Amino acid sequence: MSLQESAHEDFTHEDVSRRKFQLAVIYGLSAVMGLALSIPAAIYLLLPPRAKKEEQWVEVTDVNRLPAGHPEELVFRRNRVDGWKVSSEKTSAWVIKKSESEVIAFAPSCTHLGCAFRYEEQKKTFLCPCHTSNFDLEGNVLDGPAPRPLDRYLVKIQGGKVLLGPITASPEA
Ligand code: FES
Repeated sequence: MSLQESAHEDFTHEDVSRRKFQLAVIYGLSAVMGLALSIPAAIYLLLPPRAKKEEQWVEVTDVNRLPAGHPEELVFRRNRVDGWKVSSEKTSAWVIKKSESEVIAFAPSCTHLGCAFRYEEQKKTFLCPCHTSNFDLEGNVLDGPAPRPLDRYLVKIQGGKVLLGPITASPEA
């Protein structure tokens, strides 16, 4: 083998090795990029979206701060989780302390068409100004077009704090 042929053969081996290395780098980077892109896609496709977690409990006040038997409107913020979207919204509840261990809380919307109702101190009823539905302090319909009692929040008392959970729709009257 001549000197020239030997040099040519060495060059070819180096060239092949470099090419193999470059291909390995390209394949390696492609695999890493593919993996990086597929992980979020796999999470999106395989994990179910979070359910509407209105089951989250929100602390709204101390039991001691509520006057017994008298409705108080409490305004608070709660997170609404819808799929992957989490938003914070301002809402309210009409809360009545029946005893140190029992508190009820009404959702703020009338069960007719959803208007905000208010408490009528003199009559001790809730009045909806839209179509004059009236509700007693248990949320029952006294008169008006409202088809069912007021909806209630789930309520629990922990360590002297009042926590509100999801709203449960009242059954049709
Ligand atoms: S929305 Fe309340 S009575 Fe119609």
